[in-house]
Amino acid sequence: MFKGFLLGIIVTIVVAVAAGYVTLRFGLIPANADAKPGRLERWAAGTSLDATLRREAPQGPDPVPLTDQNLIDGVHLYSEHCAVCHGTAQGDASASPVAKGEYPAPPQLATAGVEDDPPGYSFWKIKHGIRWTAMPAWKDTLSDQQIWTLALFLQHMDKLPPPAEMAWQQVKN
Ligand code: HEC
Repeated sequence: MFKGFLLGIIVTIVVAVAAGYVTLRFGLIPANADAKPGRLERWAAGTSLDATLRREAPQGPDPVPLTDQNLIDGVHLYSEHCAVCHGTAQGDASASPVAKGEYPAPPQLATAGVEDDPPGYSFWKIKHGIRWTAMPAWKDTLSDQQIWTLALFLQHMDKLPPPAEMAWQQVKN
């Protein structure tokens, strides 16, 4: 009786693995980037990202002080490294050819911003990148100080003081 039960489980597992292999081998799971991510895929990626952020993202406030100069530095870093995918102050209207071709599409941050996110979440995403997307990890290119400076700018993007707003309006991609 128990032996039959065990055999049933093993056969089920073998069939499931074989079905998965055949599905991949015959191209039934598309590999193209010009598709919309499915519900299951979006759920799996989002759930894993949320759980990772809760576990790993630094807590507390941004260690970079909120000054005009730090915000302007953030704008410059963004202009150099991020605008190609995340757009300019024109938001959705500024989506570049690179951004339009990505899967999933990168948010144009002046339209769909992250001002409400805790700064530690933005810090973690910038430092480590986001798996299953085109969001790169910047830890080999930018220092922690520069990443916090970027997080500071992202958190204040929709309420910049005039000198930083002027710099932001000049960013092109
Ligand atoms: C090559 C394209 C690319 C570049 C360059 C890039 N990103 Fe991203 N980024 C993405 C994509 C794609 C996503 C969306 C990931 C997703 O759907 O979860 C993303 C997501 C994000 C998010 C999370 C947005 C949200 O709504 O939760 C933040 C914050 C972010 N990027 C910041 C930056 C910063 C800061 C830079 C520059 C240092 C940067 N990114 C450079 C492609 C890029």
